[in-house]
Amino acid sequence: MQSITRENLAFIINTLRQIAGIDLSEEQEYLIIDKLSPVAKLTNHATVNNLINTIRIHPSSRIMESICDALTTNETLFFRDKIPFDTLKNEILPEVIHTQKDTQKLRIWSAACSSGQEPYSIAILIAEHFPELTNWNIEILASDISERALKKAEQGVYREFEIQRGLTPDLIARYFTNKNEVWQILPRLREKIYFERRNLLDPFHSIGPVDIVFCRYVLIYFDTMVKKLVLDNIASILSPNGYLFLGSAESVVNVTGSLERVPGTVPYYRQHTPQRKISPLDAGKIGLTPFAKK
Ligand SMILES: C[S@@+](CC[C@H](N)C(=O)[O-])C[C@H]1O[C@@H](n2cnc3c(N)ncnc32)[C@H](O)[C@@H]1O
Repeated sequence: MQSITRENLAFIINTLRQIAGIDLSEEQEYLIIDKLSPVAKLTNHATVNNLINTIRIHPSSRIMESICDALTTNETLFFRDKIPFDTLKNEILPEVIHTQKDTQKLRIWSAACSSGQEPYSIAILIAEHFPELTNWNIEILASDISERALKKAEQGVYREFEIQRGLTPDLIARYFTNKNEVWQILPRLREKIYFERRNLLDPFHSIGPVDIVFCRYVLIYFDTMVKKLVLDNIASILSPNGYLFLGSAESVVNVTGSLERVPGTVPYYRQHTPQRKISPLDAGKIGLTPFAKK
């Protein structure tokens, strides 16, 4: 059974928080060893502890990126939780179509998109239910810190068990092609999505105003300070009529006042004071040093 020295454990926990905001604890030593063992093997280290010794002596951004990739949790599925997608279909998109009928522009951001199931679900929902948006200028930005997850997202190729998690046979038949036991999303859907490696600790200003943000099941890995940084930065780029979806265990309550819950049964959020200019925050101000965006 492997173990990591206290100093090395503290180093890896601090480093991951610094570069990605992810808040691991010493109790998760076993998980860290489990996830970093393949990186140790790939880089010819007999143990995870040896791997950490090496990066402490010879810091390597390439190995740190592999470590960050290994320690992120990329669990996802198509139409995860269903309810946010029903709300998007029944409430938000009809409203946006009405308020933005003059500009005919719509910008959506899947802010921790993992292997792509979330942005493809959004694209499928629009293709299925909103033929009137065909001629609109629709941009779907999909980003994630994990290079491995993002590569898979960009490829849009899924195995049988992945495709069956959240998609009906009808949707699979309409939006995927089957080749050599894997399923490929149709190019016309993939072309609608712009994939980008992006750390949520990096400044957001280059993203510009966004109408709908999905930032789901990522805040759960952050401490309150990092959650506030990310939520305030989302508030700063959310358009005045824009909306934010979080994961079911995530909320803005007791974290920030820059966003408020939209009244109703399904939790989703909007700027607390629409039209107010919310200043973006800098991760450096709370002592973090994220990887520079590639
Ligand atoms: C559990 S997945 C959630 C995927 C999708 N949003 C969903 O709800 O199904 C969490 C994702 O957050 C990403 N992530 C973790 N820290 C991040 C950060 N600092 N910046 C951007 N993405 C991050 C991970 O790489 C992972 O793909």
